[in-house]
Amino acid sequence: MGWDREGVLAGRYRRLDRIGQGGMGAVWRAHDADLDREVAVKELRVPEQVAEDERAVWYARMEREARAAARLRHPGIVTVHDRVVGEDGRPWIVMELVRGRSLDRVLAEQGALPARRVAAIGLAMLDALSAAHANGIVHRDVKPANVLLEDERVLLTDFGIAAVEGDATLTRSGAVLGTPAYMSPEQVEGRSVAPASDLWSLGATLYAAVEGRPPFTAPAHGGLFVAIATRDPAPPRCGGPLAEVLRGLLTKDPADRPSPEHVRELLIAAAKGLAGRSATVAGPPRSATLVDSMAGAAVIGRDQAVAVRGALACIWITVAFTMLLGAGDDFPLLTQIEHWVPVGLVLAVILSIGLWSLTHRPVLALVAVAVINVWVTVGALLANHALGNEMQADADATFSWLAGAFAMMFAFAGANRVLAARIPSVGSRQALLSVVVVLEGLVMTLWPWAVAGLGGMQLHPPDHGRSEEFFVSALGIMLLAWIAAQAVLRPARAGLDPGR
Ligand SMILES: Nc1ncnc2c1ncn2[C@@H]1O[C@H](COP(=O)(O)OP(=O)(O)O)[C@@H](O)[C@H]1O
Ligand SMILES: [Mg+2]
Repeated sequence: MGWDREGVLAGRYRRLDRIGQGGMGAVWRAHDADLDREVAVKELRVPEQVAEDERAVWYARMEREARAAARLRHPGIVTVHDRVVGEDGRPWIVMELVRGRSLDRVLAEQGALPARRVAAIGLAMLDALSAAHANGIVHRDVKPANVLLEDERVLLTDFGIAAVEGDATLTRSGAVLGTPAYMSPEQVEGRSVAPASDLWSLGATLYAAVEGRPPFTAPAHGGLFVAIATRDPAPPRCGGPLAEVLRGLLTKDPADRPSPEHVRELLIAAAKGLAGRSATVAGPPRSATLVDSMAGAAVIGRDQAVAVRGALACIWITVAFTMLLGAGDDFPLLTQIEHWVPVGLVLAVILSIGLWSLTHRPVLALVAVAVINVWVTVGALLANHALGNEMQADADATFSWLAGAFAMMFAFAGANRVLAARIPSVGSRQALLSVVVVLEGLVMTLWPWAVAGLGGMQLHPPDHGRSEEFFVSALGIMLLAWIAAQAVLRPARAGLDPGR
């Protein structure tokens, strides 16, 4: 079964004309004889070269699209009326006919749209996406070609590669079908997608609408992937709240994208034509400024660049302090032990300088910080050993340990965002991160003792009382601030994922 000789499908839908063409097939305007109304029929066209077993995957994908879209009833989502299966197993989707054009075509014909219109389109799309997310569906292919405009109505269509919660099949094959230009960094990197991925694509779509071209362009897919994953888009020409929305949505780290509520507020302001951020528009959902400032470094992972650079700066300070240990008398690290220790440290610093511009690689920064920290401690212990001393937390050592601990704090903050982004469900994310954060706090404050213990040496607190108190309380405050900042701020940020 399919179109019969008279161009009728399932004895009911008469083919009229072709209204669209996408990656999966053609979309036809058709007349439903039973209900005497016009409908849109999506016909799956599997390319000739696709093998038989792969064909079944295409069919299943289309089936899924029908089921996903049918699960959603929302004025901003194209309604699915019916699904027909041909004799060959090929599925057809019968849906509401949208009498208009796709945003893609509008942009090709008209060029960029005014900011207020774009904001209104964004609001409608955000509503539709929120409805899908609340139903456990991530669209995964939000782009201008899948947004239909009918007068003032805005409709989201094409759930062809949507990820349906509890249905893991096809995820991989679906992943390569998304259109690269609008794919989120986590999608191009093959990581798991979450509702925040749709928010990125929403940002890319609105950017294209207001600029007339997508945020990232490149002649080949490879270059496009690199640009999406690592570069910042050119600032959009529009200003005000719409620019703020675009900037926020196009944040590389899904955990750092603004919440749908905040995006909605800004889009409302932009749709009303407000010039700047209005007084009625709340700032980003920043909780507890007190905790924020108290544990600035701990929450700095919000801004990955600051996390990575903070970690590097602190670790270089650590190395400088350690080299100068015992300054004033004998520079033990520089003069008393084999030179491979200070030379190795300098080499490590030189290598880590390269990380300064790789701000999207926080895990690499963490590894560098950990390696240098261990190296520093081993060097300091060896130097003291060479001098016949026992390692003591005297004033010099105190500062290099504290700087080392701060380096770890920044590095963990950056790496945690990567970890958070990999866990799609809010519940397991919070549980795992809570444990991880406590462990990290212990590691960052206690690592010198652990390293000394492994080296079979004893660390004694300094004899001159004040610096011991300062050292222990500085570490204690750091640990508490770190844990408090994570505990208070994580749940607020988890609101990113409605319906999950
Ligand atoms: N319900 C509809 N009403 C009108 N036009 C539609 C409808 N659905 C899709 N189209 C048009 O067909 C094009 C391709 O449809 P789409 O579902 O995105 O297919 P594909 O999965 O192949 O990308 C869309 O860009 C749009 O122009
Ligand atoms: Mg499409």
